[in-house]
Amino acid sequence: MTKRISLTQYLVEQQRQHGHIPAQLRLLIEVVARACKRISISVNKGALGDVLGTAGSENVQGEVQKKLDIIANEVLIEANEWGGALAAMASEEMEGIYVVPNRYPQGEYLLLFDPLDGSSNIDVNVSIGTIFSVLKKPDGHEGVSESDFLQAGKQQVAAGYCVYGPQTTLVLTVGDGVAMFTLDREQGSWVLTQDGVQIPEDTKEFAINMSNMRHWAPPMKRYIDECLAGKSGPRGKDFNMRWIASMVADVHRILTRGGVFMYPWDQREPDKAGKLRLMYEANPMSFLIEQAGGAATNTQQRMLDVTPDKLHQRVSVVLGSKNEVDRVTAYHQAGG
Ligand code: AHG
Ligand code: MN
Ligand code: MN
Repeated sequence: MTKRISLTQYLVEQQRQHGHIPAQLRLLIEVVARACKRISISVNKGALGDVLGTAGSENVQGEVQKKLDIIANEVLIEANEWGGALAAMASEEMEGIYVVPNRYPQGEYLLLFDPLDGSSNIDVNVSIGTIFSVLKKPDGHEGVSESDFLQAGKQQVAAGYCVYGPQTTLVLTVGDGVAMFTLDREQGSWVLTQDGVQIPEDTKEFAINMSNMRHWAPPMKRYIDECLAGKSGPRGKDFNMRWIASMVADVHRILTRGGVFMYPWDQREPDKAGKLRLMYEANPMSFLIEQAGGAATNTQQRMLDVTPDKLHQRVSVVLGSKNEVDRVTAYHQAGG
């Protein structure tokens, strides 16, 4: 029988070999993974669990909240607030930070999450997910405030996502490569199914919402035009396109077989840097992508170097196979 490695065993062994997963961080990751298990159960119940449809409210970004956005947010808060590893949490679905209540011990970590990514896919039974990012609270002061969260993505100590698809898969980095765990529903445990994930440097597959093409900046248009020109165009090869409209699912495909994902700035809302959020979408995904040998930028600079000035800050995103990300970024840097 092949030996099965559980998430717990993986984390313990990582700590033994590299010493970068202190007990508090391990607890935190395991609790997030447990919360994802619970979310996965709700997702799977669908209409039978009365979890589909809208909740009748809006989040801080003016987006209509789905029932599952709220359920997933509550599951993550409830699961994580008591363990003693965290000082505070932040979420796409909450305007301000959630400070761990006084009745629980305060830990040294900060957790950020997009509780339910791909909300438009919930009701149509297409893959959705949960994204999370872990930072350390800066030393030297009591209490915790929003400014403690405003750290560049390179400061993340762990990041990951769970994709609720045909399989439920947890993808994790603690800064030493990327590991994937598949949920064994009978046993209720996460089993390591891939380690040392690597993204090929080259690809013939791009992911972008093409319906926005007329609104993009010239460098973005140029890149896609060249891909569409195929074999007889400047790239000399045919490209394929995929767009799931759940970042988690698109990134999961890229981690599995390569590709480039883009959600660029567009001229409809010129003051918005992009649609996706830096701190709980772009940063954790960029950390994973870099750890798998890929690259991630905001079209101008490395994503993980961007210093945030707002919790819910938006950003342009280009991530995936290194050579394509470098090309898209170079077109933008050159301004055309
Ligand atoms: P969320 O459901 O958390 O608001 O995120 C949705 C995001 C992302 O998952 C996806 O890549 C993108 O929005 C899809 O946008 P379009 O609807 O413009 O395709
Ligand atoms: Mn999202
Ligand atoms: Mn979301």
